[in-house]
Amino acid sequence: MEKRKQVLSAIQPTGYMHFGNYFGAVKNWVRLQEEYDCIYGVVDYHAMTMPYKPKKLRENTWEMIFKLIAVGVKPDTLFIQSLVPEHAELCWIFNCFTSYGQLSRMTQFKDKSNQSKEKADDNFISAGLLDYPVLQAADILIYRADYVPVGKDQEQHLELTRNIAQRFNNQVGKEFFVLPEPLFTEVPKVRSTADPSRKMSKSAGEKHYIDVFGDENRIRKQIRSAVTDTGESKTDGEMSEGIKNLFELLKAAEQMDTHNSLMNDYNNGTLKYVELKDAVADALVDLSSSFRERKQELLANKKEVKNQIKASSANIRKQAQETVRQVKELAGLGNVRY
Ligand code: TRP
Repeated sequence: MEKRKQVLSAIQPTGYMHFGNYFGAVKNWVRLQEEYDCIYGVVDYHAMTMPYKPKKLRENTWEMIFKLIAVGVKPDTLFIQSLVPEHAELCWIFNCFTSYGQLSRMTQFKDKSNQSKEKADDNFISAGLLDYPVLQAADILIYRADYVPVGKDQEQHLELTRNIAQRFNNQVGKEFFVLPEPLFTEVPKVRSTADPSRKMSKSAGEKHYIDVFGDENRIRKQIRSAVTDTGESKTDGEMSEGIKNLFELLKAAEQMDTHNSLMNDYNNGTLKYVELKDAVADALVDLSSSFRERKQELLANKKEVKNQIKASSANIRKQAQETVRQVKELAGLGNVRY
């Protein structure tokens, strides 16, 4: 049998998961498991690059693990980054194969360092924030990933990963690392229902994201108050961003029959927005309640699930250790040969 291609992706342990995260990324992870060998990380080392609280970090890491399993990620594909410390070791080695100039020009670094200048009173920007993409390169290359499902915002980090792999390969005089490709699957771009001109995001504030594990009434309320037409009447006949977003959510939730029949109404000019909203709310609430139920079951066996993830992390770690062993040998480190 032909070996399946290796897929690697990772998510920060923010603790929350909104429908933008779910439809835009995590649902795709679940799907990819059918076709590829997948490894998915909850990257707690990355979460230290901005000011954080240790207790909260550990809580959020487990919270994210439980949520990922609840929506269908298989536990044996999941690992916690800090349980595989070789990521940090490989990151150090890669630091020495990374251009400082290129790092300092990364868009995400510039955005996040501006954010912390605005927020924090002490102007603290950690070296870890600058180094973030190198750790990401280590996450990817340590498992020899062929494909990395990510959003467009991560394209630059993937490019850097390829640059590092190339530079390492040149240094050691062989094609040791495969150059990973981003996997830009067509995924729904979910927008904020309160302001459809921006994408759904937690950082924009409470009303700009809908929690996948949130309470039913809140989900209904948020959809009920979704912005549809923004003030001025439409003269150009184009669908408003808000309506588009609601249709997009119905599609993402795989309610195609409802989607098509309501779209028909829209085209005939007979669509009542409240019907569209109710349909979207029903679909999201349905998904949400099955995920919440699953999470409750997992929490009832909290200890077992945690042990399972520790075991899968230890198992995944073996691959990481093997890569690092070979890298060190090639890089002139350690006494592998003597
Ligand atoms: N930087 C990614 C994000 O913000 C998270 C991440 C860390 C990641 N390491 C990774 C994504 C490796 C893909 C592969 O979304």
